[in-house]
Amino acid sequence: MKNLSIIGAGSWGTALAVVLAPRFPRVRLWVYEADLARRMHLSRENDVYLPGFQLADNVEVVNDLPAALGAADVVLSVMPSHLVQRLYREMLPYLHESMLFVSATKGLENGSLRRMSEVIGEVLSARMEPRVAVISGPTFAKEVARFEPTALVVASSVQAIADKIQAAFSGPTFRLYTSQDTIGVEIGGSIKNVVAIGAGVLHGMGLGHNPMAALITRGLAEITRLAVAMGGQPLTLAGLAGLGDLVLTCNGDLSRNRTVGVELAHGRKLDEIVGSMKMVAEGIKTTNAAVDLAKRYSVEMPIAEQMFQMINFGVSPRDAIQRLMERSLKGE
Ligand SMILES: NC(=O)c1ccc[n+]([C@@H]2O[C@H](COP(=O)([O-])OP(=O)(O)OC[C@H]3O[C@@H](n4cnc5c(N)ncnc54)[C@H](O)[C@@H]3O)[C@@H](O)[C@H]2O)c1
Repeated sequence: MKNLSIIGAGSWGTALAVVLAPRFPRVRLWVYEADLARRMHLSRENDVYLPGFQLADNVEVVNDLPAALGAADVVLSVMPSHLVQRLYREMLPYLHESMLFVSATKGLENGSLRRMSEVIGEVLSARMEPRVAVISGPTFAKEVARFEPTALVVASSVQAIADKIQAAFSGPTFRLYTSQDTIGVEIGGSIKNVVAIGAGVLHGMGLGHNPMAALITRGLAEITRLAVAMGGQPLTLAGLAGLGDLVLTCNGDLSRNRTVGVELAHGRKLDEIVGSMKMVAEGIKTTNAAVDLAKRYSVEMPIAEQMFQMINFGVSPRDAIQRLMERSLKGE
């Protein structure tokens, strides 16, 4: 596979262009903002979403979708979740059934609550047999772009597709494991953002390691319950796309969702917090989705429920914690 097209040049798309450039002779990076694309073309740097990193010479910056997609072997989509359906529909006329599609987006579709691979599969199936994989795991964009050792999962219901992407993407600092459990991988990667907001709340309240460890562990328990009810495998959630990503997002200062929680704990209103962030904190929308999925699959998700109450109804962090601690007692 020679031609990689990366659709979306936020922090993650740009970091993927940096780390995957040595793996493909030709990489095209589609940038939505025309002015940013022009600057990136000249400076070789994404000064908005990932400043301080240079793109390799074989990365072409493009602002035009047909030009970004022509003759691609792999289309790697890295846009925020609310744009996935719209962008795939726009791309559809320029896609070919020989292409493999990889989604690096984390999150669920608003309203329908579908996973990204479902959304992409549905759009593609209008014209072809969809060949789709997802990548997920503990991956802060900046660390990946600094070529720090990173491990992640590539999942596809078709093992041969996961194998191909594993072989094409893996490199000295980027190690991919395969999985056939797209449900577990996508639910892990999405719902962890809800728990990450909770981690930020604990941090913002100045609480210590005990509550954080309890939140991560019980958060993982409820994510696993949901994933299994949806058809995922429990072991997937104990892996990189579950526990791995949860530990990263809950402990790392780089996480935007955690930052939202810290600000909530400091008493700032959600609108104000979101208004002051340039980047997307997917966890806010995902909190609403998690509560809806919990209802749909009759699964108890008490942490997600309290985050929902905090975000939508202004329940105070102290009250939310008290409600969690005073639930009826249970076996683990
Ligand atoms: N940042 C990370 O470290 C990281 C790591 C793993 C996964 N992810 C996931 O990758 C996805 C993308 O996140 P990100 O961090 O790169 O995003 P970002 O918040 O840095 O950037 C937003 C992106 O959306 C694009 N955009 C905005 N409006 C648009 C429009 N109308 N049409 C098309 N594109 C538009 C922008 O050009 C930009 O590329 C998310 O699902 C995120 O959860 C991010």
